Amino acid sequence: MGASVARMTIGPTRQTAQRRRRALTPERRTASILLAGSTLIALALAYAPDYGRSIVHGPMTPGHEHIACVRCHAVAPGSMRQQAQANVRYWLGLRRTGASFGHEPVTSKPCLDCHARENDRHPIHRFREPRFLLVTRTLDTRSCLSCHAEHRGVRLTVANGEFCQLCHHDLKPRVDPITPSHPQLVAERRWTTCLTCHDFHGNHPVKAPTQLEHAHDAQAIQAYLAAGPDPYSTTKIHGAKRP
Ligand code: HEC
Ligand code: HEC
Ligand code: HEC
Ligand code: HEC
Ligand code: HEC
Repeated sequence: MGASVARMTIGPTRQTAQRRRRALTPERRTASILLAGSTLIALALAYAPDYGRSIVHGPMTPGHEHIACVRCHAVAPGSMRQQAQANVRYWLGLRRTGASFGHEPVTSKPCLDCHARENDRHPIHRFREPRFLLVTRTLDTRSCLSCHAEHRGVRLTVANGEFCQLCHHDLKPRVDPITPSHPQLVAERRWTTCLTCHDFHGNHPVKAPTQLEHAHDAQAIQAYLAAGPDPYSTTKIHGAKRP
C-alpha cells in the first residue's frame, strides 16, 4: 500500500507533488486509524462464536431458528487483513471497489438452495423479463429478500397483499368463476382479498374458493404473514430442506 501512495505523489510538477503530499498527510492518518479499527472489528467477528451472535439483530423468520449463520452469510474471499487493506485502499481512492468485510451480502441463492420448487407460480427468475422492469423498480420481485427480509421475526416484510396490483391491475380472466368477479374486486381496489383465496407461491395443496364468503378471514392471513399459524393448509407440496 505504501508504494502506491508514494507513486501517487509523483505529479507533473514539483509544486503539485508537494501539495499532494501535504494533502495526503491527514488522509494517511485517517487511513491508519481506519485500518486499525477495521482490523479490530474484523478480528472480533472472526473469533466471536458463530459470526458474532453478540451483534444486535432481530428474531429469525419462523422456521429459521436453527439455521447456521453461514448458510446465508457466506464468508467473503481473502483474509481479514487483505479485506481490511482493500477497503482502506478504496477509501483512499486507490481502488475502484470496496471489499466485502468478513461476509458477503446475502442474496436469494441460499434461499433457493433450501426452498427451490418447480411449481412456484411466481418464481423470481420470471421477473427478469423486460416487461417487469418498471414493476421491479417499485418492488424488486427478482429477489426473495424484497418480500422476506431476515431478522424481523415475521414471514413477510412487504405490506400485506396490496402489492398484487403491481402486476394484476388489469385482471380479466377469460373464465371467471368467482363472486364477486375479479374485475369487480379490482375496480373496488379490494387488493387485500387476493391472499384470502390464493397463496402466493402455490405451494399449498388447496384450491381457491369461488365465493368470497368462503375465503379465509383477512385477519388470519395477517397473522400468518406475521408469525401465526398457516391458514391455507397444514401440509405443503414441497417441504423446505432441513437445516
Ligand atoms: C436465512 C438466512 C439468514 C440466516 C440464517 C442469518 N441471516 Fe443475518 N441476515 C440475513 C439477511 C437477508 C440480512 C440482510 C438484512 C435483511 O434482509 O433483514 C441479514 C443481516 C444480518 C446482519 C446485518 C444487520 C442487519 O440487520 O442488516 C447481521 C449482523 C446478521 N445478519 C447476523 C446474523 C447472525 C449472527 C446469524 C446467525 C445467528 C444470521 N445473521 C443468520 C439472512 C440471514
Ligand atoms: C438451510 C435451509 C434454509 C435456508 C438457507 C433458508 N430457509 Fe427458509 N425455511 C427453511 C425451513 C426448514 C423452514 C421451516 C418451514 C418449513 O419446513 O417449510 C423455513 C421457513 C421459511 C419461511 C416461513 C415459511 C413457513 O411456512 O413458516 C419463509 C418465508 C422462508 N423460509 C424464506 C426463506 C428465505 C427468503 C431464505 C433466504 C434468505 C430462506 N428461507 C433460507 C429452510 C431454509
Ligand atoms: C413479491 C413478494 C414475494 C417474493 C419476491 C417472494 N415471496 Fe415468498 N411469500 C410471499 C407471500 C405473500 C407469501 C405468503 C403466501 C404464501 O404462503 O404463499 C410467501 C410465502 C413464502 C413461504 C411460505 C409458504 C411456502 O410457499 O412454503 C416461503 C417458504 C417463501 N415464501 C419463500 C420464498 C423464497 C425462497 C423466495 C425467493 C425464491 C420468495 N419467497 C420470494 C411473497 C413473496
Ligand atoms: C411482479 C408481478 C406479479 C405480482 C406482484 C403478482 N403476480 Fe400473480 N402472476 C404474475 C404472473 C406473470 C403470472 C403468470 C400469468 C401467466 O402465466 O399468464 C401470475 C399468476 C398468478 C395466478 C395464477 C397462477 C396459476 O398458476 O394459474 C394467481 C392466482 C396470482 N398470480 C395471484 C397473485 C396474488 C394473490 C398476488 C399478490 C399477493 C400476485 N399474484 C402478485 C405476476 C405477478
Ligand atoms: C373468492 C376467492 C378469490 C378471490 C378473492 C380472488 N381470486 Fe383469483 N381466482 C379464484 C379462483 C377460484 C380462480 C380460478 C381457479 C384458480 O386459479 O384457482 C382464480 C383465478 C385467478 C387468476 C388466474 C386467472 C386466469 O386468467 O387464469 C389470477 C391471476 C388471480 N385469480 C388473481 C387474483 C387477484 C390478483 C385477486 C385479488 C384482486 C384475486 N385473484 C382474488 C379465486 C379468488
